[in-house]
Amino acid sequence: MSFLPISINITNKKILILGAGKVAARKVKHLLPFTSNITVVAPEISDEMKQFSEVDIIESAYDKKYLEGAFLVYACTDNTEVNDQIICEAEEAGKLCNRVDKGPESHFHSPAIIETEDMVVAVNTKDRDIRKMVAFKNELKEHIDEKIELQKQKVNQKGKVYLVGFGPGNPDLLTKKGEKLLQQADAIFYDDLLDADALSKYPGEKTYVGKRRDNHSKEQSEINDILLKAAQEEKMVVRLKGGDPLIFGRGGEERLYLEKNGVEVEIIPGISSAIAAAAYANIPLTHRGISSSVAFGTAHGKNSYKILESDTSVYYMGAKNIKEIAQKYLDKNYPADYPVGLVHKASLPDQEVIKTNITEIAEGRVEIKSPVISIFGNTVEYERELRKRTE
Ligand SMILES: C[S@@+](CC[C@H](N)C(=O)[O-])C[C@H]1O[C@@H](n2cnc3c(N)ncnc32)[C@H](O)[C@@H]1O
Repeated sequence: MSFLPISINITNKKILILGAGKVAARKVKHLLPFTSNITVVAPEISDEMKQFSEVDIIESAYDKKYLEGAFLVYACTDNTEVNDQIICEAEEAGKLCNRVDKGPESHFHSPAIIETEDMVVAVNTKDRDIRKMVAFKNELKEHIDEKIELQKQKVNQKGKVYLVGFGPGNPDLLTKKGEKLLQQADAIFYDDLLDADALSKYPGEKTYVGKRRDNHSKEQSEINDILLKAAQEEKMVVRLKGGDPLIFGRGGEERLYLEKNGVEVEIIPGISSAIAAAAYANIPLTHRGISSSVAFGTAHGKNSYKILESDTSVYYMGAKNIKEIAQKYLDKNYPADYPVGLVHKASLPDQEVIKTNITEIAEGRVEIKSPVISIFGNTVEYERELRKRTE
């Protein structure tokens, strides 16, 4: 690239525009925010050009004498020979000249410009392809606008806590809103995410407050206090949870505690692992004619879980208790081959799906790995079920 990108202060410098058609008028419009010392010389002046009352307009054919005192010259006539003459004479007079008809022969180019409140971004392409410049400029502008909007929001978000659902573990399933908040957060408190490495790209300070790793268990009250303290320090806080914050995520408790202590809270939903597990294992949670209800429950806590009596029943947690749950279905006279889908690490590269039934599970013939989502119901084998019904 032979053109050096620089920015020049042209306030009060005389800018000479030769020509007064559409292109010249565009140049004037482009230059006016930077200087009011613009002279236009042309034998005929377009109506568009006449609208610029602040411009010095001279109705005359080009003459070398007009170059005098000019800091920059724009050859915008529709006559190639005249433009040739202008650039030659400008060069002789030691003036920098831009010609609109033969860009590469110019002494300088004007880049495409994106202006924000406190920034001017200039865009140049190596081959001066105007379409590329405009496309890139538009893309960049969108990006810059988004960044500025984020910055503005951030100022208002100090001292606020966002309970954000991370989804089932695969970072691609994080919502756009969740991603934006993570980028802006001063402090991120996360628990047992299945892909915690995905957090390394976010600049905020990251603190693990999970309940499993190293057998170190943080009490919920301790987590509540940590969140409160960070918010009181005027940080923008993201409390990141696997799946959705309001499904076995204790999001409700955290919200109540923080709001009681005067902290604003916003909850951003995430894809719950049950929803992801169903999708990735091709198990409809409802299906016309087979299942018209679905219930979500926990298999955790030996005596506290209960069998869900829904067409489709989905159990979170408690991999150890699935065997016992399957037995309870048998005790309730569900068919011996009542289908069960087990989805381990849904959405992740090492996901495993097992389609089995309550008898095999109750007899301990199926290995159940944690974390697992267990789906009980005929939709687990819905294709088989549909075939049976048409036979
Ligand atoms: C404390 S609960 C949190 C649930 C979470 N809030 C949600 O909406 O998915 C943890 C349980 O979610 C389930 N789980 C979370 N991620 C999972 C995944 N990727 N695959 C299978 N099960 C998952 C497991 O049953 C695990 O024991």
